[in-house]
Amino acid sequence: MSKLFALKPISDLLSESKSDLGLRKSLSALNLTTLGIGAVIGAGIFVLTGQAAAQYAGPAIVISFLISGLACLFAGLCYAEFASMIPISGSAYTYSYATMGEFMAWIIGWDLILEYLFAASTVSVGWSGYMVSLLTQIGINIPPEYTSARGMELLQIPANMPGIDAGWFPKTPQIIEFLANHGVDSGSLPMVTSIINVPAMFVIAVITMLLVVGIKESANFNNIMVIIKVSVIILFIALGFAFVKSSNLHPFIPEGTGEWGHFGWGGIMRGAAVIFFAYIGFDAVSTAAQEAKNPQRDMPIGILASLSISTILYILVAIVLTGVVSYKFLNVPAPIALAVDAMGSDYNWLRIIIKIAALAGLSSVILVMLLGQPRIFLTMSRDGLLPPVFSKVHPRFKTPYVSTLITGAVAMIFAGILPISILGELVSIGTLLAFAIVCIGIIILRVKRPEIERPFRTPFVPLVPLLGAGICILVMLSLPWETWLRLIAWMALGFVIYFTYGIRHSKIRNSKK
Ligand code: ALA
Repeated sequence: MSKLFALKPISDLLSESKSDLGLRKSLSALNLTTLGIGAVIGAGIFVLTGQAAAQYAGPAIVISFLISGLACLFAGLCYAEFASMIPISGSAYTYSYATMGEFMAWIIGWDLILEYLFAASTVSVGWSGYMVSLLTQIGINIPPEYTSARGMELLQIPANMPGIDAGWFPKTPQIIEFLANHGVDSGSLPMVTSIINVPAMFVIAVITMLLVVGIKESANFNNIMVIIKVSVIILFIALGFAFVKSSNLHPFIPEGTGEWGHFGWGGIMRGAAVIFFAYIGFDAVSTAAQEAKNPQRDMPIGILASLSISTILYILVAIVLTGVVSYKFLNVPAPIALAVDAMGSDYNWLRIIIKIAALAGLSSVILVMLLGQPRIFLTMSRDGLLPPVFSKVHPRFKTPYVSTLITGAVAMIFAGILPISILGELVSIGTLLAFAIVCIGIIILRVKRPEIERPFRTPFVPLVPLLGAGICILVMLSLPWETWLRLIAWMALGFVIYFTYGIRHSKIRNSKK
């Protein structure tokens, strides 16, 4: 039983971090920061912000961003200490192996699949939505049956509706309400039932191929995508500020409806839980530790710089968005496009540019998530908890190509058949769990191994990690119970795999026999 809690010696980890595992060490601090921004800015800001403002928080979504940003800052400070101390590609999995033992490490490694692999699927579904709408705009129509999750009902939205393009959209309560607000009865519109989401599967396949070919090539592609999305977001903020009406921002915290989570402070908290998704990804920097040139110095820079830059951009976008359009109208699939509409017809050109930026943003999130997952698998496989095939590195490309291909194939299946709502909430709950465990791990390791060199130290321990873990758990509690059930089912599957495979093949356990 005690072997379940066998710790991986830090000395082993440090010597592993010096070996290159056959991977190429080519990433600089700037590459790591763009990798972080690449993973962070995506569906959260391009889709969820408007919906969360309209349904839960109003203009006070800005406060929701601050609360979630603070939780991520605390978790980010803890990740930075671990990443500088144990620069190994396994991220939170490795940190738990060193602090809480093998079983906990397996749990977290299995949980991280929810964050990385599922996030890639989630965001590819968002990508598919934007791509289909861009293609429709240039006259290319993909049959709607092949553009969404299996079994999803799609409605054909007529032309000239504000904030939404003509085309096929999932029949969600939001869309029905949106149509009703504009005097359209959703029952009167043509409807189809989707078979599979081909564009979502396509983008995953293409990015997987890129990742097999090389880390440097992937980082370069990511840099271009990040430059496009950040420039367009800055452009939106700069142009939009002139159109902010103070009347839209008053009252800043709309009065609660009486139902918890709908406006007032309850709404701000619920908004924080929803837009937490927008921050996910800064920790992906830590999965590239073994491809960094100078990980001990650069990992904390990459994690904290990407988090800070994204937070500032998010808060500014939230102010402009709710200042230009009343929050009441923001419950649309492309809220930023709605704000551009409100800026007048002179800005029509910006609309298409925003779509391209969203596509670039979503592509880079998919890329970094699909880059992180195989590197976690690689570390788990080196420890014997996953079969050896997961740690095969390509002799020429120097990438973990088998685990990259497996990750891509599984992510494609989920992307093809599952809707964004189920995927997104699973990603959030899985990530929150990982963050909470990493925060607690910092306290444990400070007590157990105070002497280890820590190039970066989390400030105010134990306050910062405790607050980080506490806020993450609070946010988890505000997610629906169905999401908790799915988390429990996923973890149960993980237990079965550990007790039938990992426990027998673990290197640490076998070396101690
Ligand atoms: N933070 C990432 C996004 O918003 C996952 O798309």
